[in-house]
Amino acid sequence: METPSPANPDLIFSLRRVTESAACAAFNWIGRGDADDGGNAALEAMRAALAQIDVDAVVVIGEATAGEAPQPHRGERLGRPGAAFKADIAVDPVEGTSYLVRGLTNALAVLAVAPRGAMMDPGPAFYMEKFVASAPARGKIDPSWPTGKKLEELAKVLGKDIYDLNVFVLEKPRHRELVNEILAAGARVAMYPAGDVAGALMAAVPGSSIDALMGTGGTPEGIMSACAVRAIGGEFLARFDPQLQTETQAVHDAGIDTTRWYQRDELITSDDVFFCATGITTGLMLEGVERGKSHYKVQTMMITGATGERQIMTSYLPTDRLASVAARDVA
Ligand code: FBP
Repeated sequence: METPSPANPDLIFSLRRVTESAACAAFNWIGRGDADDGGNAALEAMRAALAQIDVDAVVVIGEATAGEAPQPHRGERLGRPGAAFKADIAVDPVEGTSYLVRGLTNALAVLAVAPRGAMMDPGPAFYMEKFVASAPARGKIDPSWPTGKKLEELAKVLGKDIYDLNVFVLEKPRHRELVNEILAAGARVAMYPAGDVAGALMAAVPGSSIDALMGTGGTPEGIMSACAVRAIGGEFLARFDPQLQTETQAVHDAGIDTTRWYQRDELITSDDVFFCATGITTGLMLEGVERGKSHYKVQTMMITGATGERQIMTSYLPTDRLASVAARDVA
């Protein structure tokens, strides 16, 4: 097995170019009703940007099984083969494909990197149930508790009244009961049709308008979010929760226990993680891409596990530097 060497925390400033390139590439497809072209352009831009960075990364999480948007293949090598930093990588060139396609808010380009072997390989599991909250909740919430008890305890550790808790839930038929339970407990719900990476980030960041994320979403998004949440110091608990018939069979055949809740540090076993998210369309946390005559303006959240630092950076990128992106402009 290759020995992971510690990464320079400043790598985050190079990695941000990857999600920025993807976001600029996706810009042309905002509101054009096409998921594939936008996703492919963003994915290609990510691959090209990663090839300029000193990281030898293997894709642990690809979304090819059920995602709407193009994703790299599991096991694909990205970055520079032979670079000293051997890493696992998960990317989502367009998180919130339906937002991109419809020209709505909240589409992001996302990337997470961890030392090789530190990201859990979820095998065929495409969906997971997640519980995410900020640092005071670490170790305080038993995921097997009923919803009401979890929220009571969360309110206690956050020093809030339960009536003031705001819980991010994906708006899906599978969450009807969960939503009723949250409301019955007295808390509020913030229901979004897509994009639980943003929900997880907000739940983990103290003082955001979201106190927790609950419910089932994508496993790739979960693993990427868990990287960010570990770096921020928040709580992330997850249980594989297959939703598709083929997935249920594959998960069963792989011997995965769907009753078991995994701790954050089982999903991501190192602190030395990196996470970047760039806004494609303006959303909960980040402004979307703006294109001027000579520059793209982009905003990126960068999180570095080794230092615990979190930054939001606004960059002005000369359009000619992104020539490969411009070359793929919509005719
Ligand atoms: P895509 O951009 O790949 O479509 O993912 C959006 C998303 O909403 C994720 O944030 C979430 O984890 C997942 O889809 C939920 O999947 P589904 O919409 O199938 O329930």
